[in-house]
Amino acid sequence: MAENADDARVTAQYEALPYPARDPADEAKRLILGAPSHLFELNHYVFAGGRDFRLPFRALVAGGGTGDGLIMLAQQLADLGTPSEVTYLDVSTAARRVAEARAKARELTNIRFLSGSLLDLAALAPGPYDYIDCCGVLHHLADPAGGLVALAGELAPAGGMGLMLYGRLGRTGVYETQAALRRLAPETLPVAERIATARRLLKALPATNWLRRNPFVADHLDGGEAGLHDLLLHARDRAYDVAELAALVEGAGLAIAAFIAPARYDPASYVADPTLRRQFQGLAWLERSAMAERLAGNIRKHVVYAVPKARAGLAVAKVDSPATVPLFRQGDGPRWVETARKGSVTADLDGVKLTLPLPRLAAAIVARIDGRRSLAVIHADLQSANPRLGWDIFKAEFDALYAALNAINELLLRVPSEL
Ligand SMILES: C[S@@+](CC[C@H](N)C(=O)[O-])C[C@H]1O[C@@H](n2cnc3c(N)ncnc32)[C@H](O)[C@@H]1O
Repeated sequence: MAENADDARVTAQYEALPYPARDPADEAKRLILGAPSHLFELNHYVFAGGRDFRLPFRALVAGGGTGDGLIMLAQQLADLGTPSEVTYLDVSTAARRVAEARAKARELTNIRFLSGSLLDLAALAPGPYDYIDCCGVLHHLADPAGGLVALAGELAPAGGMGLMLYGRLGRTGVYETQAALRRLAPETLPVAERIATARRLLKALPATNWLRRNPFVADHLDGGEAGLHDLLLHARDRAYDVAELAALVEGAGLAIAAFIAPARYDPASYVADPTLRRQFQGLAWLERSAMAERLAGNIRKHVVYAVPKARAGLAVAKVDSPATVPLFRQGDGPRWVETARKGSVTADLDGVKLTLPLPRLAAAIVARIDGRRSLAVIHADLQSANPRLGWDIFKAEFDALYAALNAINELLLRVPSEL
């Protein structure tokens, strides 16, 4: 596909300032976990928890940048011993060099690195892919809808995608500041000069300015030159509200399976008034999600899982079988025992404190969640100490625990495949 002048500016920006800035030496210290594309999470939200990872897995990271999602996914697949290939594609060769160095530092051998535009995916690296990650990329394209269609065309019918797109309301003030800087620091100036002007403007903004009053974009402002440039001097970006995002996804023949974290898209997370809460319950799921976004005001990024429309409603794992295995997104259950004993869990949704009640058996259950024990095994274990604990009581307790911890994206499910 022919590159136009705006595309060339986007590419040039990421050649000059790969984003996010990463040092491959840090791979020895930590694995960056995020969303979308955490392996447990995508199994839960795309494959109803039931992907058999003994079978080959083909993933694409479209616009992989400096490699955060790529490295996480490739490492998790490698740790599981899955026969996998993760294809990296990006227009920026500078970003690719950073991602390659990170993969090398981890001795990952399951990544195929390619340079080019995701718009040319069918020619460059045809699918079908079981999973496609496209995090923070589509909103930089001239035609995001066309970009998503290009990706969807290479997705396996039983596969799915993890997407991140900017949220309109949470980026309040960003676009006005970008417009101001287009006049004060035009693209004809050297990058260093433009960044200096942006810094000067940030210091000078009056207290009433919406960007100054917006604490939700601090991750970019703290992200050094690349972060500042990505936020305020970007060659091209736009943001979406929930309805616009849903339309974008639908236009590519897909459906949103889940918003991450679910609690952020539940208006009841923000409003305690019982009458209003009852009204929320009357809304369809997407309308409720849109309501939550409007009320919260702080969603600066939408993270969603999307699947082909034919699988809408079938993609997300449910607690419907004793064979289901609960697992914590970030490690074992015992870490949660202390919290569970308190009878509630608290989460900070970017400035909104959310407290969710936990059931009576929460501590006993989380202590037994290790990603291997099924609900049947956990129940049997608890029942050996308390013979009167029937399945129905246990299941009701687990459901209440799951409702709270899944809402804040901590607890997920997997359904082991038959041997
Ligand atoms: C904000 S970065 C996000 C990087 C990475 N996905 C992440 O979440 O850390 C956007 C990336 O998209 C890449 N990009 C922009 N347009 C692209 C296109 N048409 N095809 C492939 N990559 C593209 C840029 O070069 C850049 O590395």
